[in-house]
Amino acid sequence: MAADGRVAVCPGSYDPVTNGHIDIIERAAHVFERVVVGVVNQPVRKAKTLFTAEERRAFLLQATDKLGNVEVDVFDTLLVDFARKHGAMALVKGLRAISDFEYEFEMNQLNRKLASDIESVYLMASPEYSFLSSSGIRELATFGADIEDLVPNGVAQALHDRLSRDGD
Ligand code: PNS
Repeated sequence: MAADGRVAVCPGSYDPVTNGHIDIIERAAHVFERVVVGVVNQPVRKAKTLFTAEERRAFLLQATDKLGNVEVDVFDTLLVDFARKHGAMALVKGLRAISDFEYEFEMNQLNRKLASDIESVYLMASPEYSFLSSSGIRELATFGADIEDLVPNGVAQALHDRLSRDGD
């Protein structure tokens, strides 16, 4: 049962969204009354995204269509400012392996320094998705692997189309 009025933000680049992301968003939607998926417009630590922010948002909208308390918004401000804009009291992130921990720990400290009233909450990746990442998906798709089971409907085809177009 969701706690009354509690809003969480699930932030990320989502380039592209994977079934692992959707698993975290669905689980957050069970715990919080409202979940806002925050799509980072221009990720700082990545060169250039494969999909535009609007494309990434559209994939997420389609994949979360059946979740009545989830919305999707693009942002290019500080994450904590985006959270405040939506009245969120929590940032929800998925954690896979130890390798995620170092980066997330740093982000946690930065975000806490900026807004100590916004709590970061970490959900452990479900075992079936613990190996999944957007960069891994992009790499598999580049070499023509079957990724249908790893991403929401439509994403595999869009990846295929984008990669074959870029390779022309
Ligand atoms: O791993 P991701 O998907 O690139 O994560 C993006 C995000 C926003 C969750 C992460 O960079 C973060 O927690 N940043 C906090 C600092 C901040 O506000 N940066 C500006 C983002 S537009």
